[in-house]
Amino acid sequence: MSSPKLWAGRFSQETDAAVHDFNASLRIDSRLWPYDVRGSIAHVIMLGDCGIIGVDEADQIRQGLQDLAADLESGKATLPPDAEDVHMAVETLLTQRLGPVAGKLHTARSRNDQVATDIRLYVKDAAGSIAQRIIGVQEVLCSLADQHKDVILPGMTHLQHAQPVRLAHHLLAYFWMLARDEDRLHDAFLRADVLPLGSGALAGTTFAIDRRKVADLLGFSEISRNSLDAVSDRDFLLETTACLAILMMHLSRLCEELILWNSSEFGWIVMGDNVTTGSSIMPQKKNPDVAELVRGKTGRVYGNLTQLLTMMKGLPLAYNKDLQEDKESFFDTVDTAIACLDAVGLLLKNTTFRVERMAASMRGDYSTATDLADHLVRQGLPFRQAHEVVGNLVKTCEQRGGGLEDLTSADLLKASLLFTGAEIGALTDPAQSANTRRTPGGTGREAVEAQSDQAREHLSNARQRLERIHARPNKEPAGADA
Ligand code: ARG
Repeated sequence: MSSPKLWAGRFSQETDAAVHDFNASLRIDSRLWPYDVRGSIAHVIMLGDCGIIGVDEADQIRQGLQDLAADLESGKATLPPDAEDVHMAVETLLTQRLGPVAGKLHTARSRNDQVATDIRLYVKDAAGSIAQRIIGVQEVLCSLADQHKDVILPGMTHLQHAQPVRLAHHLLAYFWMLARDEDRLHDAFLRADVLPLGSGALAGTTFAIDRRKVADLLGFSEISRNSLDAVSDRDFLLETTACLAILMMHLSRLCEELILWNSSEFGWIVMGDNVTTGSSIMPQKKNPDVAELVRGKTGRVYGNLTQLLTMMKGLPLAYNKDLQEDKESFFDTVDTAIACLDAVGLLLKNTTFRVERMAASMRGDYSTATDLADHLVRQGLPFRQAHEVVGNLVKTCEQRGGGLEDLTSADLLKASLLFTGAEIGALTDPAQSANTRRTPGGTGREAVEAQSDQAREHLSNARQRLERIHARPNKEPAGADA
């Protein structure tokens, strides 16, 4: 049977075993124990400093918590599996070690402000590790872009050959998607960086606590302004989940392209044997499972976002037990994002580009039609008319078979005298087509080089910002390493 309930005072009957199991969350929230201990250490230091409990008692509890953390870490101690939740589990272990003085830890605190604090600490750490991994994938994209500066492939609209682009340009498109993800995550981090502890169950506390001190010890920038809001707010989980849903959408798009490019129809990439998997029946198969799984797992994160939003929508102030359902999906979201970022990084590092296949795919694909039209515009023809002229040339090619590059000077001059002196070879050269798109953000060589510099600069700023955040004591509160 379960250990005696820490709240059993007013009850004369034991909790039904089925109700205990239904109510319990330890299976899910046990991973919060390091944050729970950290929060308790800060709280108890403050209680001692403010004279709410004796300094020696505070010290004894702090020491007990530190020893407990070390033993949980090493596996010498384990959370009692029959505890209701992680907070009760930690307190139960502490009580076993220290006796009644452990009961002073929960002075001026409730599990409601405690759990909100624990998950905010968790979110802040998780945001950091995810940001680190986003930056890692961005680095891979940057170096692949550097290695393929002059590789040209057909850029697509409607999944049809549209205009030639640089492979580096294509890869860097994903870089900027991830840059927004990292930035959004930072923004979510800032709103998670608020201490709810000190809100009590819902109304604050009768003890003269020092919330600012606890915030400083735990590395929170601010303290919450409204206790009712503080114990029932889960916006920070919603925001982080929304950021990660968008991140997953980006990874999924990237993986979708890798899957397409890996198909025998495209044949634009080869995924390494170390990142692909075989079939149990078809001996020839080498499947892009990693990319497919990332695409597939995106759905769970969208589902998790919907679950959280739905869980929140009907809650009256302040804490309701519904909120206990916030963790399972959130942990899944974090685990999924981390696993997918790691997988995508590995997959990209072990992918080679078949540049000759990319080049071959542009033969006869009409992807330089706009360049022909632009040539006529430079000779003074209004763009709409130029569009029509080149459209007719495409029709000719289609009827005859062959691409724009196969047109003769006679064909061109028949279409428009403004083609006089034009070099069909140059006009239909994919590299030239790409290189002449010199506008900032375009696919020309200099433009892509400038973009790549911007990407590197962006990365170094992002890295510095992340280091600044991790330099703050949210990793280890003062006293935890004493
Ligand atoms: N396990 C609970 C949760 O995750 C902790 C807070 C419990 N509060 C309460 N009033 N029963 O939300």
